[in-house]
Amino acid sequence: MNNRRPFIAGNWKMYKTCAEAVETAKTLTGLVSDVKNVDVMIAPPFTALSQVHEAIKESSVMLGAQNIFWEKEGAYTGEISPGMIASAGCRYVIIGHSERRQFFGETDLSVNKKIRAAINNSLAPVFCVGETEKERDGKDTFNILDKQLKMGLEGFSPGDLERMILAYEPVWAIGTGKTATSAQAQEVHRFLRNLIENLFGKKIAGSVRILYGGSVKPENIGELMSMPDIDGALVGGASLNAEKFAEIIKYK
Ligand code: PGA
Repeated sequence: MNNRRPFIAGNWKMYKTCAEAVETAKTLTGLVSDVKNVDVMIAPPFTALSQVHEAIKESSVMLGAQNIFWEKEGAYTGEISPGMIASAGCRYVIIGHSERRQFFGETDLSVNKKIRAAINNSLAPVFCVGETEKERDGKDTFNILDKQLKMGLEGFSPGDLERMILAYEPVWAIGTGKTATSAQAQEVHRFLRNLIENLFGKKIAGSVRILYGGSVKPENIGELMSMPDIDGALVGGASLNAEKFAEIIKYK
């Protein structure tokens, strides 16, 4: 047994208008008001952050953003700074999601800068890593994860990582309905925890929460959560529906 508190996060991606986001958030807080032993976070689109914050601030559901830029302010059209999302009520920020790496040119280097910016602004990063199908088929999974983790966390001290959350999201399992088996996910989570231990020591390795992401749903969450190194989930599609997401949060 470990004493890591389960963490279940919903990544709403580019879905929901402000009104839709507020409605889903309100329904969710009602459905999970009796949940005491799981940390819950939702990451709506930027445009809905403030209003969702208003809607959930009396509840235990926490707010996160899906991305940030690393500069404090400046002439960066279209970008959002760490201080801006913090002022909208965010405590968390997802960084390095594979969709950002795939479609928006994010690299291990930009991910590193964003994690630094999050930490400097007292935001907890939810740092995503994961291999593509081709990389898994080519038996490259562990090399890729090693590189993503080492480069993403280059230059950090163990103290920097106290609030960091790591998310393992195999790209081939995101939005595809194909979930990694719990054994496949556990194998990678153990690998990542060992790597953290080698780089930053036993204490952080023992306390860092590692989430699994990729087609998590009410039907598979229980099995995933029964694995010793899986501490939670980063949920995309199934988090858009408050009832479904609440079922995931109340897994048994
Ligand atoms: P999914 O997305 O649950 O829809 O597969 C997960 C994610 O991208 O975080």
